[in-house]
Amino acid sequence: MSDKAKIRITINGVVHEREAPPRMLLVDYIRDVVGLKGTRYGCDTSNCGSCTIVMDGRSAKSCTFLAVQADGREVTTIEGLAEGSALNPLQAAFQEAHALQCGFCTSGMVMSAHALLAHNPAPSVEEIREGIIGNLCRCTGYVPVIEAVQAAARRLDPKGGTP
Ligand code: FES
Ligand code: FES
Repeated sequence: MSDKAKIRITINGVVHEREAPPRMLLVDYIRDVVGLKGTRYGCDTSNCGSCTIVMDGRSAKSCTFLAVQADGREVTTIEGLAEGSALNPLQAAFQEAHALQCGFCTSGMVMSAHALLAHNPAPSVEEIREGIIGNLCRCTGYVPVIEAVQAAARRLDPKGGTP
């Protein structure tokens, strides 16, 4: 008898109904079962934030959840942001502000910023810092990341935006 559980997760608007071992992490399910490799697996200890996704509208570190805990929930990964082959405004702002170097942290960083802007379209610098507090970057020094989030906020909400 299989000890796997059948779980149903909506990822980027597509329902995935697959089997997963009870101890499989959500990050492994997303990467290895569904095949979406944009979500990175960095520290495995809930520290780095490279595995960040959005689950039911809130950012979440997918290495801190079991896949079975996401059963019935809605997940967005970095692959769900682009519109066809066009980057979404947040991704474009990261590119324009040179808010990445090696890029390892970038998908998690973008997903945290995406969740932040969904709830707060005109965050202050302090609020942006707080929004990405769980995401470590060893390359950028964070300043370009903050500028990218500010630029995206202005682009997404020209009347709002950040000071
Ligand atoms: S891999 Fe999840 S926080 Fe580092
Ligand atoms: S761009 Fe290299 S870790 Fe962030």
